[in-house]
Amino acid sequence: MQQKERISFGSKLGAVLAAAGSAVGLGNIWRFPYEAGNHGGAAFIIVYLGCIFILGLPIMVAEFTIGRGSKASTGEAFKVLAPHPIWKWVGYIGVLTGFLILGYYSVVAGWTLEYTFQALTGGFAGKTSAEFITLFQEFSKDPLRPLLWLVVFLLLTHFVVVKGVEKGIERSSKLLMPLLFILIVLLAICSLTLPGANKGVEFLLKPDFSKVTPDVFLGAMGQAFFSLSLGMGCLSTYASYFGKETRLVHTAASVGLIDTFVAVLAGLVIFPAAFSVGIQPDAGPALIFITLPNVFQQAFSAVPILATVCSVLFYVLLALAALTSTISLHEVSTAFLHEKFHFTRVKAARLITAGSLLIGIVSSLALGDWSEYTIAGMNLFDALDFLTAKIMLPFGGLFAAIFVGWVIDRNLVKNEVTNYGTLKAPFYPLYIFVLRFVAPIGITLIFINELGLLG
Ligand code: PHE
Repeated sequence: MQQKERISFGSKLGAVLAAAGSAVGLGNIWRFPYEAGNHGGAAFIIVYLGCIFILGLPIMVAEFTIGRGSKASTGEAFKVLAPHPIWKWVGYIGVLTGFLILGYYSVVAGWTLEYTFQALTGGFAGKTSAEFITLFQEFSKDPLRPLLWLVVFLLLTHFVVVKGVEKGIERSSKLLMPLLFILIVLLAICSLTLPGANKGVEFLLKPDFSKVTPDVFLGAMGQAFFSLSLGMGCLSTYASYFGKETRLVHTAASVGLIDTFVAVLAGLVIFPAAFSVGIQPDAGPALIFITLPNVFQQAFSAVPILATVCSVLFYVLLALAALTSTISLHEVSTAFLHEKFHFTRVKAARLITAGSLLIGIVSSLALGDWSEYTIAGMNLFDALDFLTAKIMLPFGGLFAAIFVGWVIDRNLVKNEVTNYGTLKAPFYPLYIFVLRFVAPIGITLIFINELGLLG
């Protein structure tokens, strides 16, 4: 639905912070540090930066173009711009992807609230390594407690989304993103001043090019994709609220920079602390829900209050990062229902909250009581993660690149990048080349790799 007076973000800064809020999330804080540390440190980071520049930023600008050029949310944008109705399905699949991610992502987001609560109420004090493992396993498999936090988290997301684009999304991003920065910098300082912290810094930053295999290259591209929230129209929906003075390339560069900066800082929180107490960092959820609380307890055993403060700050940080991402995921579906079926935003948001709660409940139970139900050997939680992050996101990104590179009106593409000729765009030919050739080929490679077809 094309609207003449579309609601929009009140300022350019608000637009940048909202998009950065979507990008900075759980993916930055546990996945990036682990991938970097284990795949050649600075060498991985260089490859990752290459992926952000060569692939991530052009696709982000393409998604911005789709959003602002159509002034419609992802679900409708392809229909507005495309010469052929088949393209609308790319938009619809994007909405579905975001909706599914919202369901299971909110489960993990809910865990961050439980851990904030545990840290605040002294639940970590005096626990041994084995007890931290039990604590996490018992909690994540519990049929009820994670669901309570899931409800709380979804309600928080819901309230921000129903407040609307400027008063809800923009205002919360302007408050939460700076807070998140302050927290992560404080935690990094804390972690870097621990004895023996330099071993952790070395683990993260020392380049080891021998570990850069083709597999690492493809892994870095996948990480860049998920971390920048590309491939499902989150950023194109946000871009539909950009004002005409917002500079797309500039905004994409700022989002990429903030996202990478937070990811590297997260590594500088996790590894120095882990190495300082001689704990080998683990992968995935175990790293942030088992290793880290343990690390903080041990690192600050002489001053228990510091252990509590660091743990609380860390889980609040995770919760904030997750919240700005769930808001963006929720907005994609809410805006879609609002525009496609003309529901009020409140009604649309209620339906999405209720629907994602159902998906969240199934995902959460899949880790405990329902773990025997599997698809292709994966429980339903892992199956959802696999289907969305590894199949639907690359698929969406591939089509966004092809759509802007090959399908839509060339003048519109140029006008969006140059803000109707008022900005210089020296990289324009390169941008088009990337969208037409480099991105489709690169993403096809990630896709094949993720599905294990490269062996
Ligand atoms: N970028 C978010 C993160 O790093 C996850 C996300 C993916 C959010 C896709 C929105 C869309 O955690």
